[in-house]
Amino acid sequence: MFDRVAKNYDLGNDVLSLGQDRAWRDLVVEAVQPEPGQLVLDLAAGTGTSSEPFRQAGATVIATDFSLGMLAVGRARLPQLMFVAADALRLPYTDASFDAVTISFGLRNVEDPGAALTEMRRVTRPGGRLVVCEFSTPTWKPLRVLYANYLVAAIPAIARIVSSNPTAYRYLAESIQAWPDQAGLAAMIEAAGWRQVEFRNLSTGIVALHRATA
Ligand SMILES: C[S@@+](CC[C@H](N)C(=O)[O-])C[C@H]1O[C@@H](n2cnc3c(N)ncnc32)[C@H](O)[C@@H]1O
Repeated sequence: MFDRVAKNYDLGNDVLSLGQDRAWRDLVVEAVQPEPGQLVLDLAAGTGTSSEPFRQAGATVIATDFSLGMLAVGRARLPQLMFVAADALRLPYTDASFDAVTISFGLRNVEDPGAALTEMRRVTRPGGRLVVCEFSTPTWKPLRVLYANYLVAAIPAIARIVSSNPTAYRYLAESIQAWPDQAGLAAMIEAAGWRQVEFRNLSTGIVALHRATA
């Protein structure tokens, strides 16, 4: 599915998130705290938009994704990045090899998110960091109702204009609604063996940033 949306993927994000995704991405980088000399895995990296800020901060980042279409757009757009094709459920990296592992708007798309979190834990060095940025549940009830309508009605309508594959955006809306809330994801992260799990809400919970330590 991501192969088919790859070409317009970044434009679609900007429009559908009403430009908010840039601010969310800045906060992901702040949470990961990349430093020169550190090795960062950006999993489900897609076209590399979520990976490039880590390289700019001086870290070595490996942008990993299993969609060859997304990787091809990424390689053309950001040739300075290191892209690797691999499945989140079977990472081609040795144990404890990364200082930080992060996944933005990707965990929800992985077939078995719990297994992916375990695999991410395996490749992170002891004391290393996990940062997950994912759509979540708005904390304020009136916004929750408004947002549910946006997901069901507005996203597919906007997607018909900005995307070559509106069906993919119907999947986006449905998968956000089926995803666990903040506490549910925190429990899933803990069950995968991570410690000190905490989260903060962005845009009053439309997105949540979960952090943990290996
Ligand atoms: C919504 S995109 C996010 C891309 C990027 N992280 C960003 O923030 O723009 C989700 C990505 O997850 C990838 N993905 C889904 N399941 C995967 C898996 N099992 N292994 C690797 N990548 C996966 C898809 O190919 C897609 O590129």
